[in-house]
Amino acid sequence: MSIHWTPDRDQGSESTLQAISRFLSTPPGFVNFLPGDQELAQIEDVANSIPSDHEILLLGIGGSALGSLALVDALCPEAGHRLTVIDNIDPDSLSRLLESVDLTATTILVISKSGGTAETSSQLLWIIEKLRQRGIDPDASIVAITDPEKGTLRSIAQQRGWRSLPVPPEVGGRFSVLTAVGLLPAALTGIDIHALVAGARSALSDLSSATADHALVRWISSWEEHHELRTMVVHFAYRDRLVTLGDWFAQLWAESLGKKHDLSGREVYRGSTPLVARGVTDQHSLVQLFVEGPDDKQFLFLDAHLNESDLEISKETAQLHPDLEYLGNKSLGELRRAELEGTIAALQSAGRPVSRVLLDTIDESHIGAWMMLMEIATVLAAEILNVDPFDQPGVEGGKAVAFARMGKPGWSEKGRRIEAGAQELKPSPPIPVSKNND
Ligand code: PA5
Repeated sequence: MSIHWTPDRDQGSESTLQAISRFLSTPPGFVNFLPGDQELAQIEDVANSIPSDHEILLLGIGGSALGSLALVDALCPEAGHRLTVIDNIDPDSLSRLLESVDLTATTILVISKSGGTAETSSQLLWIIEKLRQRGIDPDASIVAITDPEKGTLRSIAQQRGWRSLPVPPEVGGRFSVLTAVGLLPAALTGIDIHALVAGARSALSDLSSATADHALVRWISSWEEHHELRTMVVHFAYRDRLVTLGDWFAQLWAESLGKKHDLSGREVYRGSTPLVARGVTDQHSLVQLFVEGPDDKQFLFLDAHLNESDLEISKETAQLHPDLEYLGNKSLGELRRAELEGTIAALQSAGRPVSRVLLDTIDESHIGAWMMLMEIATVLAAEILNVDPFDQPGVEGGKAVAFARMGKPGWSEKGRRIEAGAQELKPSPPIPVSKNND
């Protein structure tokens, strides 16, 4: 079984090959801290401590939520009823969610690498209050995943005796899907976490003997060749199960590459903008822009073989109308493939750079391998842009203002300074909206 990846360029560059060899000789935390048998057993022990009839509410945001969402959608879409990921704080959806959850049969999984993220902390406090109001012991219901030693969440977990798992400090949030952050939720939905990690390891070992025709070498070289003009990467998944993988990729790519300063501290405002598209649906939404709009995008098409039972249309049914007869004796799968080929051909004919990926199947090892390849691609792209892929100083400003407004000690001055630099928007006269036609 394989990943068939056909980048826009036939051969990768020597400089990409050298970057890969540097990467492999001093690998970052997400490679060095890929879990071994002992860590996987620890994750499985915690998973086994959770009653099998419990629903799981996952509290987390960004890198502490997107990997789980992508894994579950790709590998176990039917598990959606067991695992609910709460990665927002909109009171409207949270209160509606609570109406449908039986908290007496629910385990709360709180995931925060830093252990102090405001959104996750407020969700946690809110849920603890709800558990208490219903007479449920929060300490028996909550499992925490966070730094092994530091941070507020670790200290609460220790004080309250919560079950917990560590996130290796060396692994950044958006690179943490193959740690307990993604693997515990995966194990709880029946995903084979050993096969996921094995897939990631196989991608790494394949890369260790890469030559210029290796797909990752070719893709990064192609991305480098185009990135100054084509500043966006469109993740175009033609299987519904792979669409959320696009959201995971978008965070990884955007937060790792979008930087004001380069590694020497110079102001450079670099980055590459990810855009998530879904085939075939977005052929009726975004493709017009992709084919005829500005030539500022590179395309990454994702497809996979699946043993689904195809949906056939009989000749008789298609005789409903002469205009529909061409669909007789055809299937929805055939139409999906024809549309995928059509969109790729249209983009290529318009001179747009297209790379395509076909997974032999959607299973743990293919997804593990693909996620590892995308994480490595992100680090290689950061090297080309000469930026640090592992920090995110740009999200601090908004956080500071929110903290200051919420009265968090120590933040008022910083928050005030940032708000002082913000532009005061002059309100327009309100647009009247009436319920009736008068
Ligand atoms: O990649 C990152 O570091 C961020 O996107 C984090 O994942 C996100 O901010 C959540 O942080 P934490 O896991 O510390 O709550």
